[in-house]
Amino acid sequence: MIHTVLCDLLNIKHPIIQAGMGPFATELLAIAASNAGILGLISHSGGPLMGFDKPVPEIMSDAIDMVAKNTKNTFGVNVRVAKNQPDAKKCIKMICEKVQSDSDIAKKLRVVVTSAGDPMGGSRKDGTWTEQLHRAGILHIHVAAAIRHALRVEKAGCDAVIASGYEAGGHLALVPVHTWVLLQGVVKAVKIPVIAAGGMADGSSLAAALAMGAVGIQMGTRMIATKDSDFKNNYKESFLNAAETDTVVLPGFFSPHCRYLSNEWTKKLEEMMAENASDEELMKFKAQGRYLAAEVGDKRGSLLCGQVAGLIKDIPTVKELVDRTIQEAEEIIKKLPSYIKS
Ligand SMILES: Cc1cc2nc3c(=O)[nH]c(=O)nc-3n(C[C@H](O)[C@H](O)[C@H](O)COP(=O)(O)O)c2cc1C
Repeated sequence: MIHTVLCDLLNIKHPIIQAGMGPFATELLAIAASNAGILGLISHSGGPLMGFDKPVPEIMSDAIDMVAKNTKNTFGVNVRVAKNQPDAKKCIKMICEKVQSDSDIAKKLRVVVTSAGDPMGGSRKDGTWTEQLHRAGILHIHVAAAIRHALRVEKAGCDAVIASGYEAGGHLALVPVHTWVLLQGVVKAVKIPVIAAGGMADGSSLAAALAMGAVGIQMGTRMIATKDSDFKNNYKESFLNAAETDTVVLPGFFSPHCRYLSNEWTKKLEEMMAENASDEELMKFKAQGRYLAAEVGDKRGSLLCGQVAGLIKDIPTVKELVDRTIQEAEEIIKKLPSYIKS
């Protein structure tokens, strides 16, 4: 058993967070993660922009109800708070109201992980994100991709920071800083708990992150390829034959830098950009890519993932993945003292 301050903070058995992976749905994954003793996160939905027929806060409110009904443990929600994410304010408000009006949800929905924007954002009327969440009794964690950004997360009053390096899947920082460099710097720079993200595949990642001073890890890509995850089988299976060199960074839905598995779709996106396709054409093509990947399960869609896809060789259940990650980390940590000679 590995117990860190993250376990106490989030009331979880193992110090692992299943990452938010919008615009894809992760309700089933969050339920399995939460039931396996780690933190499951509901993702920020793509909403009508991605072809859904309901506004984003409504989709996420339904997701919260579904996850709360199917776990006795704690879970969280990811909200992207970038300036081009106009529904962030409504989502935070909806989450606070749900927690304040429903005692079952209040017991389980313990944390909001914000990302992709300013941790000090919010509104003059309601206060910063942290103030709004803390008033509702919800913890606030923010994702940072640079040391100075992590310092701002601490200044905002957040309860912890996720240090996410450039090998990660999904939306990335403009300036590439890789996980181990970022983690060493963030751990030294801030006093709040630090969670490592980007390239976390197994027990060796967990043991290494703990050795560097992190209190736990966040896993995204590795969680996609689990039996329980909401992602389609073709998406999950596309990792099994991938190499660690098979990803490419191209513009995303909401950010200029996003990591995808290289395939026909990424080649076409590169061609369209070289031919100066309009923003409208590019957005339509990205929405089609998400639809193919998420709804149809066509491996020619946009398969966002991290470099760690190249290390994935099986599709276990979330519980199997978590249990073996903890076991591997324990074995490594137990072995380490034998390297020290007096
Ligand atoms: C398909 C996909 C979608 C993602 N979408 C989001 C998102 O909406 N919000 C966010 O904060 N991070 C997002 N991420 C990043 C993850 O939360 C996480 O930090 C990242 O996957 C960690 O790196 P790893 O994939 O190497 O484990 C996404 C990642 C993936 C793979």
